[in-house]
Amino acid sequence: MKQNIVILTGAGISAESGIKTFRDSNGLWENHAIEDVATPEGFARNPSLVYRFYNARRAQLHDKNVAPNLGHDALVKLEQSDGFDVAIITQNVDNLHERAGSKKVLHMHGELLSALCMYSNQRTYYKDDFDHTTECSCCQRKGGLRPDIVWFGEVPMYMDEIQSLIEQATHFVAIGTSGQVYPAAGFVNFAKQLGITTTEINLVPSDNNYLFDHTYVGPASEAVPQFVNDLINNKNN
Ligand code: APR
Repeated sequence: MKQNIVILTGAGISAESGIKTFRDSNGLWENHAIEDVATPEGFARNPSLVYRFYNARRAQLHDKNVAPNLGHDALVKLEQSDGFDVAIITQNVDNLHERAGSKKVLHMHGELLSALCMYSNQRTYYKDDFDHTTECSCCQRKGGLRPDIVWFGEVPMYMDEIQSLIEQATHFVAIGTSGQVYPAAGFVNFAKQLGITTTEINLVPSDNNYLFDHTYVGPASEAVPQFVNDLINNKNN
């Protein structure tokens, strides 16, 4: 029988790919207060700053030094191994899982390479800068596009699908996430209630590490391949 592996990833899996994590610099994200760049109130207060901030994050994805690392690659290897169904729920807004080759990725906090039209609620793939002067392709109006990012105080995406994925899982794995932001931080509790095996992979164990059955400590580029090899070789079920 196939094992259903549900994997929650956070900023830690992309850290070695050149993308900074959120909570390593006193609540600042790339030198900005999170309230200024990651809340609807911040966007209402200073939209130009928020557009500029996400344009810079989006541009960073095109930097030649930003690329998937061995941690992302190992998850692709798992997906391509016989006997495993793999679903990735990511809190990351980068595209590194897709670039590595993962096929089933749910971006619960949105995506940098997408714009959301506030008039029509439609999403459009965007790889370049946009701001309040950009005309959207769905209704040809200006001023309606916003970054397709779930800000603090907004409801994460795919919650029903995520619940059903965890209900069907045989193994829940959290990689590189501090476990400080809900609802993602609560997925491990849900998995535990269902009696599913749980594993944490992190540079340092997170605050809710006690909820996990197994822990791999180390950088994602080393610890994720180790975990995947153990799983494939049946050492960690
Ligand atoms: N390998 C593995 N884990 C790492 C590495 C690494 N090389 N470097 C850092 N980490 C771990 C840290 O130990 C920490 O637990 O990654 C985690 C990063 O934590 P956060 O910065 O809080 O990121 P995350 O958990 O993804 O944040 C959740 O909060 O700001 C919001 O919406 C944003 O999606 C984000 C959410």
